[in-house]
Amino acid sequence: MGKGSGYGKVILFGEHFVVHGVPGIVSAIDSSTDAEVKKAAKGINVKDERKTAKGYSEEKRLQQLESIERMLKAMGIDPKIALDIWIGGTLPGFSGLGASAASSVAIARAIAQELGMKISDEKINQVAYEGEKAYAGNPSGIDNTAATYGGLMWFRKNMGGGQDLVERLAIESPVEIVIGSTGKVANTKAMVEGVDERKRKNPQKYNAIFKRAEELAYEGRAALEFYNLKKVGELMNENHRLLQEIEVSSKELDLLVDVAQKQGAIGAKLTGGGGGGCMVALTPGKELQDKVVSAFKTAGYDFLATKIGVGTQY
Ligand code: MEV
Repeated sequence: MGKGSGYGKVILFGEHFVVHGVPGIVSAIDSSTDAEVKKAAKGINVKDERKTAKGYSEEKRLQQLESIERMLKAMGIDPKIALDIWIGGTLPGFSGLGASAASSVAIARAIAQELGMKISDEKINQVAYEGEKAYAGNPSGIDNTAATYGGLMWFRKNMGGGQDLVERLAIESPVEIVIGSTGKVANTKAMVEGVDERKRKNPQKYNAIFKRAEELAYEGRAALEFYNLKKVGELMNENHRLLQEIEVSSKELDLLVDVAQKQGAIGAKLTGGGGGGCMVALTPGKELQDKVVSAFKTAGYDFLATKIGVGTQY
């Protein structure tokens, strides 16, 4: 049996903007998707045992199969191969946490192990990027990169089709966050296409927003590296406002952002594709983290309390 894992992630700055070449900052979280793969008699049989938002697995099933087909092709494996694939792990199947990319990385690693293929992380990342196309249409590559390598990263897509720019960032010490889930399954592909369409229809408005998003990424990077968490939080709040302007937030995401800020979170924004899915609140210290967690519980929303920047200290 072959086994593999992929990290979940939160985007701190720049989702959607990264698809268009703006830099983004992503942190892996302390939860991952695991996969086990075994050669089988017939077909591709997926048993998905992740804890998920209601309807997540059903909604993603076709994209998941397409994703596996794309990855087999990228790995040069006969598409008629029969495999039993099990997916589990600690990363919940909530939209926005890079669950699709984490599962692609986990599955690609497990397939490679089961078939005795020696594959570098770089190749796994490329294969998972191919898999991501089934879920996100025209992905930037930020999710599969975080899922493959983990850590805290500066990511800029190479719009010319060459190598993306990926730089590891280090921070003084990990910071508590709370991820709030709207419980709504979102379609990343539709969200990415929507932004693309509105940007083409309204270039003046969108170019100004994208310019500010780029500045925010640079300011966010400096604030993280100087460990000025108050500033990081303010910039995350501003990033959320930009995401509202490009129409990828939702009523529930705005509500969770508001609840977190009222409890004292120093920054909060949607994370990932939006349109449902998840938000992230920056809550340094266990006490503040617990406060936001209990407010989410009271409001009836699922959450994940974790940290960013684990294992990245200088
Ligand atoms: C999804 O986690 C992030 C998006 O920017 C899509 C992508 O970058 O591929 C919405």
